[in-house]
Amino acid sequence: MQTDPSQHVQLQVGPSGRAMAESMDPALLEGFQAHFNMERQAHATYFGAAIWMGERELRGFSNHFMDEAKGEQEHAAKVADYLIARAQSPELQALEAPDQSWGSIIDVMSTAFLTERDVTTSLQQLLMAAEQVCDTRSTVFLEAMVEAQIKAEHEAAHLLGRTKFADGQAAAVLVIDNELIEGVAHPAQLQ
Ligand SMILES: [Fe+2]
Repeated sequence: MQTDPSQHVQLQVGPSGRAMAESMDPALLEGFQAHFNMERQAHATYFGAAIWMGERELRGFSNHFMDEAKGEQEHAAKVADYLIARAQSPELQALEAPDQSWGSIIDVMSTAFLTERDVTTSLQQLLMAAEQVCDTRSTVFLEAMVEAQIKAEHEAAHLLGRTKFADGQAAAVLVIDNELIEGVAHPAQLQ
């Protein structure tokens, strides 16, 4: 049987030729690309923190930050998976060299808290942008990410507070370091 090419089912496709269910608002896509790279930048920041702690014999803190670094890479991958699912091409952009010149453990923990805060802010802005253009696929995806981010901020604030409480005293810092070796990093739970 002869087929007429003009009779093919017409599909909208993305830059890689992947089938696209719904096009994405250009400003929203730009925001997703920036957020994708922000998660990669957070990975680099945490890798730097793991190195800083490792150089100072703080095994628990170093392990904790390696876990955080892996977590950020997973978040970047999650955003990449989402963009591919939307037939968009995730763009790997050049990262900045993270500042590794921390003067104290409290400085490192403060950086971690601010990193989580900034990632949450970026997700919130994306969510608002997605809502404005009625991109429901994106709002569903982003709401789950914001929820996870709030937990990450809570944990970072807890570890910062606990570190401040230790006030640079070696015995107290080592107690926290041992907790982190055991993988205990969560705040108090009242429920
Ligand atoms: Fe993240």
